[in-house]
Amino acid sequence: MKNLGIGLFFFFFTVAAVANDVDKRQIVPLSEHQRDHILSEMRALLAGTRNILDALSRDEMATVAREARALGLGMAGKGENHLRSVLPEAFMRLGMSVHKDFDNISLDAQSIKDPRHTLRQLSEAMKKCDSCHASYQIRINEDAAAAETPPLQQRHHHSH
Ligand code: HEC
Repeated sequence: MKNLGIGLFFFFFTVAAVANDVDKRQIVPLSEHQRDHILSEMRALLAGTRNILDALSRDEMATVAREARALGLGMAGKGENHLRSVLPEAFMRLGMSVHKDFDNISLDAQSIKDPRHTLRQLSEAMKKCDSCHASYQIRINEDAAAAETPPLQQRHHHSH
């Protein structure tokens, strides 16, 4: 009897834990191709951030400026700009503001040349990495592939 109680307790405890483990972040439905595009950009953001830290540790502010510039709005122009129609607006805005932060980091690294200032800016900017990752997840949805052709834009208009 006692054992059954303990067993039930663990059963319910496990079920509750599993239920809590469900990924509740907002789903961004993308095609395989679009997902690959975003994730490659993400890896570039991580690698670039690491390069910035590496250059900061050696006080090489010109390298900091160059690496940060590569993650700026110019990167977005090549990257997610054409995904504007499929990404949620708030997602887009957050993404663009991170790129803008990197442009500012680059400018200040050239003019102020203070590693501590850059570190503070980087830490501020990376709060946005955190908050976006906490809010969104990507799921493959091949219907989203239709977004790469004009018809979705028409659908967009209908829904407004
Ligand atoms: C506007 C939203 C947004 C911002 C800002 C953002 N990310 Fe991401 N990132 C995502 C999403 C969405 C995923 C996929 C998460 C998922 O589906 O579980 C992701 C995934 C990643 C991955 C995993 C890549 C892979 O190959 O699986 C890395 C690394 C990453 N982000 C780094 C960064 C870094 C570093 C920053 C900040 C400099 C950043 N991200 C800012 C949305 C964002």
